Amino acid sequence: MLSLKIHHVGYLVKKMDAAIHTFHNLGYQTIQDTVYDDIRKVDICFLEKDNYCIELVSPTSADSVVAGLLKKYKNCPYHICYETEDFDNDYQSLTANGYIAIDTPTPAPALQNREVVFLTNASAGMIELIKATQSD
Ligand code: NI
Repeated sequence: MLSLKIHHVGYLVKKMDAAIHTFHNLGYQTIQDTVYDDIRKVDICFLEKDNYCIELVSPTSADSVVAGLLKKYKNCPYHICYETEDFDNDYQSLTANGYIAIDTPTPAPALQNREVVFLTNASAGMIELIKATQSD
């Protein structure tokens, strides 16, 4: 049994500052200023509107993990991230049921170094799984 809660929608953008400005004009507020993720070579900024959280992701170099995606799809939403209280179980369950991991669980600097992993599914596209905040 999966225990997934939607955490954010990841949105590829070519120019971070221009994107932030444009999303602000749509009524979004910045909830976390831009952080550089040196593992994935992307700038990441979190915005919120109507209790929806949007993650702007912008590659900072040609060998960024999303540079190819941006080239292909331009500015667009490209993954939904799900938070789970039971990361190991849900990760295993998804990979046993048609999801293919495209990286390994790695800390996300823009998300308090919580562990995340990306998976793809033939019918649902790309998803991200993030470990729920430890309640310690
Ligand atoms: Ni994300």
